[in-house]
Amino acid sequence: MNTVAVALGSRSYEILVGYEILSSLGSIVQGVSPSKKHFFIVDEKVQETHAQIAVQSFEEDSACAEPFGIDAVESNKVMPTVEAIWSSMLRDGCDRGTNCIAIGGGLAGDIGGFAAASFMRGVPFVQVPTTLLAMVDASIGGKTGVNVPLPTADGGSVLGKNLAGAFWQPKVVVADVATLGTLDNRQFRCGLAECVKHAMLGNDGMLQLLLEQVDAIFARDAGVLVELVTMSAQIKADVVAADEREAGCRALLNLGHTFAHAIEPIPELRLFHGEAVSIGLVAAVACAEACGLVDGVRGDLLRSLLVSLGLPTRLPMPVHIDRLLDVMRVDKKAIDSSIRLVLPTENGADVVENVDDSAIALAWTSVGAIL
Ligand SMILES: NC(=O)c1ccc[n+]([C@@H]2O[C@H](COP(=O)([O-])OP(=O)(O)OC[C@H]3O[C@@H](n4cnc5c(N)ncnc54)[C@H](O)[C@@H]3O)[C@@H](O)[C@H]2O)c1
Repeated sequence: MNTVAVALGSRSYEILVGYEILSSLGSIVQGVSPSKKHFFIVDEKVQETHAQIAVQSFEEDSACAEPFGIDAVESNKVMPTVEAIWSSMLRDGCDRGTNCIAIGGGLAGDIGGFAAASFMRGVPFVQVPTTLLAMVDASIGGKTGVNVPLPTADGGSVLGKNLAGAFWQPKVVVADVATLGTLDNRQFRCGLAECVKHAMLGNDGMLQLLLEQVDAIFARDAGVLVELVTMSAQIKADVVAADEREAGCRALLNLGHTFAHAIEPIPELRLFHGEAVSIGLVAAVACAEACGLVDGVRGDLLRSLLVSLGLPTRLPMPVHIDRLLDVMRVDKKAIDSSIRLVLPTENGADVVENVDDSAIALAWTSVGAIL
């Protein structure tokens, strides 16, 4: 089992990465956050499998009667679900000393973390990620939250992603790569897109691992997955430790994301987040090339890596650039409607202010957008 430290003073914790370690979850949790009671928030897809192994590792009378099951769709990542979790915790007699344990993908972790952050003004929280994306990204760093309905001009509403939430660091993150054995290939690849992003932040060792171990990664080789998750988690942990509240360098983790956020909500494209990130990374590299921040070699390397991992590098159908620019201007990372981007450099990435519209248009054209 590998250990990655997230150094945050009194809120420090460890990320444990291993194979078939969920049967030890009970003793791991008791070691870092001793409690007589444990409440579980569980992704329904893993409830009968991985979560059962995890829950059974606790002393029988310390686990709350029924785990709270969540169907992991974004429309469930909303306040009524948080309220239902609170009610369930109250019914089970949970108090301020109860450990709240989320088992599932990033969705279960985000909503479970927010319920833990707010129940009785905060109870100890444990992350047990079961998707690759959650292992290398969502479970690390303490961002929790829910989607919030936003009114639209026609009197309806759309869900605004992650618009309410809290920073609430877990006591420990336990990533068991054995759980990835049941994850479908499309979701698995989405996690790989975030690994590529982390590698691009300046970790050549990880870039090398991704380039050389494609077959082993897709064969879900336990040793290679432990190495991949450990390296990727280390990169996120270091950035979080340097900037817990995203006042500075944590913004670098948004590499490719401002482009991704513009295309992810377009229903016709039917893109998962990781797929949008993959296309977003290609656009970010093209934009960096147009701004003279990187040469073509880095872009070619990235594009061929993404292709070898089965990730998209172009839009599945053309979209007008004006539509994309409008969305980018209202993205959370834009200030005063000028576009601020995280772009790759030769050694990693940097935040670039006031990026020229022509460089962004060029980036969009490079992934198949049209004028
Ligand atoms: N807090 C953060 O820093 C952060 C960062 C990135 C993403 N997120 C959030 O994370 C969510 C996305 O996370 P995700 O990609 O893990 O998706 P997810 O939680 O929606 O899970 C994806 C799918 O995989 C299923 N699943 C989970 N584990 C499985 C397993 N082991 N085997 C088979 N199926 C499994 C789920 O039921 C779901 O259908 C989004 O809500 C996003 O906003 C949060």
